[in-house]
Amino acid sequence: MNTLAELNRRFAVASKLAFEALPGGFLVARVDTDFGSATIALQGAHVLTYQPRNHGPLIWLSKFAKFVPGKSVRGGVPICWPWFGPHSANVQFPGHGFARTVPWQLVEARALPDGRIRLDFELIQSDATRAQWPHASTVRNIVTVGQELEVELATTNTGVAPFQLSQALHTYFEVGDIRRVSIDGLDGSDFIDKVDGSSRKRQEGPLTFSAETDRIYLATSGHCVIRDPELARSILVTSTGSRSTVVWNPWIEKADKMGDFGTDGHLGMVCVETANAADDIIVLKPDETHRLTAQYRSIKD
Ligand code: BG6
Repeated sequence: MNTLAELNRRFAVASKLAFEALPGGFLVARVDTDFGSATIALQGAHVLTYQPRNHGPLIWLSKFAKFVPGKSVRGGVPICWPWFGPHSANVQFPGHGFARTVPWQLVEARALPDGRIRLDFELIQSDATRAQWPHASTVRNIVTVGQELEVELATTNTGVAPFQLSQALHTYFEVGDIRRVSIDGLDGSDFIDKVDGSSRKRQEGPLTFSAETDRIYLATSGHCVIRDPELARSILVTSTGSRSTVVWNPWIEKADKMGDFGTDGHLGMVCVETANAADDIIVLKPDETHRLTAQYRSIKD
């Protein structure tokens, strides 16, 4: 596992990339480029914040987020891996997998010729992770900070037998008021409505929000626009390696129960998750790599 001193010695880039410990010991990378800034935690290779230069924050991090080793953080870009949602066979295993609550190591960090900063993390396997995921594999999260935020989750089968994988980039976006937000790009897609007994429905027109929303959109195109009149901007989400998109807002009651949203916290966020979930399961053969990528860009109206 990387130490703070080692991270700064091996990977710091003058005035652009440095590492620090948050109270409680959480190690984070602080990135500051000419195009945008970000913080990324070593636990979970979890992007906590991202703000393009001259724009407001794009990623939502709860004001009440708790930074406790081994616990998930409310907000940012949590990685759900190697399964999305509950484990299919064992209810004792954590929802959305273990990747977001274990340490990752930084294997490479560099300034690209155009000034962006790229960090390449690899999940550290342990007896505890192998007890839940007995498949020979590696998983990397490659984060690039520039005018856009780019995330690439690459899973490689290093064993001799195929395995199945579900996953998501569970990204929380900052919005002005969820009640005024609409999402384009899902029109005509079938979805599983998790707040209505997992019934299958079809999206007609843009998606808007007036109650708890928890949906897995199927056969999606990899292109969504979050329209936000309150903040006078749109967020463009493009992705590859994914045919499912999860959209989530817990609304008032559920957010209250979670204890890390705060009063009305749900009004300022929406999750649009680039996923391989439900019907969209990845089967990875020996030596194959699956790449799930997402790019996030803020466009002023
Ligand atoms: C979403 C799921 O992806 O994540 C929801 O569709 C879930 O059902 C939500 O409630 C948050 O999950 P967690 O484990 O981070 O509280």
